[in-house]
Amino acid sequence: MSHKPRILAVAGSLRSASVNHLFLRAMQLIKPENIDFRIYSELGRLPLFNADNDEQAGEEVSRWRKALAEADMLLLVSPEYAHGVSGVMKNALDWIVGSGELMEKRLAFPNLSVRATLAQAQLTEMLHILGCRLIEDCSPRATTEHPLMLPAMDEQSLLADKRTGPELRKLWLHLEQALLVDPENLQSNTAGRHLWG
Ligand SMILES: Cc1cc2nc3c(=O)[nH]c(=O)nc-3n(C[C@H](O)[C@H](O)[C@H](O)COP(=O)(O)O)c2cc1C
Repeated sequence: MSHKPRILAVAGSLRSASVNHLFLRAMQLIKPENIDFRIYSELGRLPLFNADNDEQAGEEVSRWRKALAEADMLLLVSPEYAHGVSGVMKNALDWIVGSGELMEKRLAFPNLSVRATLAQAQLTEMLHILGCRLIEDCSPRATTEHPLMLPAMDEQSLLADKRTGPELRKLWLHLEQALLVDPENLQSNTAGRHLWG
């Protein structure tokens, strides 16, 4: 890698008080110097997916695809709505089914909720078929004993809390390690190739 390793962080919520965004901002505050960490906060600008426009989708879609293409790893967190994936996240992923920017992309996919499992499972399948390489160590599932988020927190208190602070720091250690691994030595994900022939 000739550049600083790049992580693109994406949250599947548009809420101003989103806990998923809060988590990413807290991670940004403690990011290692040698890593580029960018939070992508323009999912709300993407038009609704229409396969008719896939190849001439406009500037917002191009920016999204470029940000994904340039990242060495994707850190994704997303809420569950009505036992499913948020529409914001599904829409964003539909725009890259045809263009393929997630093919062989390293994926960190923590689940911040101790109770939501359905959306996480659905998104895991989608991300798999889009070609991501899920890195288990970078994809912790919050539990009551090891929470990744607590109610009514801000970034600083999330980092200072004796339960969540160490979990976020541990995640950074795993992210750093995962970025050091030569992509050749990661298990390949050929699911997407089967999908598109
Ligand atoms: C319309 C709606 C539906 C929801 N459905 C679920 C659900 O099915 N399962 C669940 O665990 N949480 C559900 N929640 C809770 C959200 O996942 C939770 O509020 C989460 O923090 C939202 O993410 P955000 O804070 O990043 O916006 C729902 C919330 C809303 C507003």
